[in-house]
Amino acid sequence: MMRPSTGPDWQNWCGKMDGKTTVTGVFGWPVEHSLSPPMHNAAFATLGLNWVYVPFAVRPEELGAAISGVRALGVRGINVTIPHKGAVIEFLDELDETATALQAANTIDMSGGKLVGYNTDGPGFVASMREIGWGASGRAATIIGAGGASRSIAAAMLQEKVTRLSIINRTVAKAEALAELVSAGAGDVEVLWGGLTGSEAEQHTRDADIIIDCTSVGMYPHEAVAPVVPEEWLHEGQLVCDLTYNPLETTLLRAARERGAEVLDGTGMLVHQGAIAFEQWTGETAPVAAMRRALLAALQGRG
Ligand code: ATR
Repeated sequence: MMRPSTGPDWQNWCGKMDGKTTVTGVFGWPVEHSLSPPMHNAAFATLGLNWVYVPFAVRPEELGAAISGVRALGVRGINVTIPHKGAVIEFLDELDETATALQAANTIDMSGGKLVGYNTDGPGFVASMREIGWGASGRAATIIGAGGASRSIAAAMLQEKVTRLSIINRTVAKAEALAELVSAGAGDVEVLWGGLTGSEAEQHTRDADIIIDCTSVGMYPHEAVAPVVPEEWLHEGQLVCDLTYNPLETTLLRAARERGAEVLDGTGMLVHQGAIAFEQWTGETAPVAAMRRALLAALQGRG
């Protein structure tokens, strides 16, 4: 295949598949809203790689059969999204340290005949912070939410050696359970937990250098809601992150920006978790700018 002469027109690029094309893709249920196909196909086109990335709608009860299909068909790499991240691990041959700790994988690499599971969500988030000049080391972090995404981010923050980690959540028991779970690998970092309201929540938020909202509050189609924490708790000097990317600016991020904090939207983690998977599969440096452009174009196309 020839390198495209006029930029990364990945849609034409995919039309050039031949007998040597390497196949990758994403397993989800549903999967039609995934933004990963345009992002990865743009990356392949940019680097002139004869690779393609395909969405696969995999019913939960078919996950094992689908993974057998990956082996049988020689699919090189698979991303795994909701609801399969936890369930997939029993079908894999090996897990990296992060996927083992989280008991969840979002990336599978077929390497030397083995299926190896990785979790690039947390590392992707850390990379997106670095891209805007922020590190978590030596800083206090507060995670809002206690679901699967919070778990990946909590592990990543502890790996980055934050000074203190707080987990606050609407359902306090879930915040406590997550804090207990990650405390095992926290070393001497203090892991605190609490609810979303009241003076304790206020303190966890005001005292944080980095705040990461991992909840679905403010996500389309319910974007016109109050920020997940009162805007008075946000201030200059903080980095406020939202894993939501639709809309790009949630009510939390708007409030944070207006109060002088730095902000990071959810496209950062999406692009960088994909970039890490891309590099794992191809061995090439991911064309992050092209991936981001494709992602934003796909988001815009959605309206
Ligand atoms: P994910 O895997 O993306 O983390 P999840 O496991 O469904 O998704 O977690 C969603 C998170 O958003 C939870 O922390 C949830 O709080 P609860 O544990 O109390 O359910 C949080 N969340 C969802 N809607 C919320 C709302 N309206 N207000 C506050 N928190 C909310």
